[in-house]
Amino acid sequence: MTELQAIRERHSVRSYQKKPIEPQLAQALKERIDELNEKYDLHMQYIEPAGAVFSAFTNKFTGFGNVPAYIAMIGKREEGIEERCGFVGEQLVLYAQTLGLNTCWAGMFKRRQVTAEIGEGEKLVLVIAIGYGVTGGRPRRSKKIEDVTDVRELPDWFKNGIEAALLAPTAVNQQKFFFTLEGDIPSVKVSANGPFVKLDLGIVKYHFEVGSGRKVF
Ligand SMILES: Cc1cc2nc3c(=O)[nH]c(=O)nc-3n(C[C@H](O)[C@H](O)[C@H](O)COP(=O)(O)O)c2cc1C
Repeated sequence: MTELQAIRERHSVRSYQKKPIEPQLAQALKERIDELNEKYDLHMQYIEPAGAVFSAFTNKFTGFGNVPAYIAMIGKREEGIEERCGFVGEQLVLYAQTLGLNTCWAGMFKRRQVTAEIGEGEKLVLVIAIGYGVTGGRPRRSKKIEDVTDVRELPDWFKNGIEAALLAPTAVNQQKFFFTLEGDIPSVKVSANGPFVKLDLGIVKYHFEVGSGRKVF
């Protein structure tokens, strides 16, 4: 499965089968995490079992159930860390999808139950639940292309990028981003306030880059 296919097939999944992740898949994820930590100067960690991070209390509000594992998104407490976590974490989300696993970014979880190592000067930004979904999830409502750009004559690559961006997970499905094009240089900005909009922006940028084959600023 390519990353673009993973983008098309992925949906957030909150209910998981009660089974641990196969050791080869967990190993593959850990190796990818190591590579990406090195490349992007992050300290992401794969944690299994998830313990009480998705506790009964949290589950009642968010619908999480039987989460077997999670990825803790951790990095230096510095400017741009949220966006970087989004950009890199989404690479893991899509990779997990190609491995036949399901995921859900989670802003609501029991922070104090996270057993990952958080070094001095580092910050736990968010977690990503991961496991075998009871189902693969389902499509949700989405903004349209014309809601997220004022470009009216869209080159194919730009349209492909935006279509991939509209399939990106965003907190509470807010999709608060807006694309512009100057010459042939695409850029995207947060369009309104909301929870985790900076993190969303990183996720959306990654989807655009996969969809369009171009870098976005
Ligand atoms: C930064 C971020 C935080 C999120 N936090 C939660 C959460 O706490 N609980 C939850 O159930 N879903 C959470 N989600 C999942 C979104 O609700 C979901 O991505 C959105 O509704 C779009 O659906 P989709 O991922 O299936 O495309 C989060 C997503 C993102 C990107």
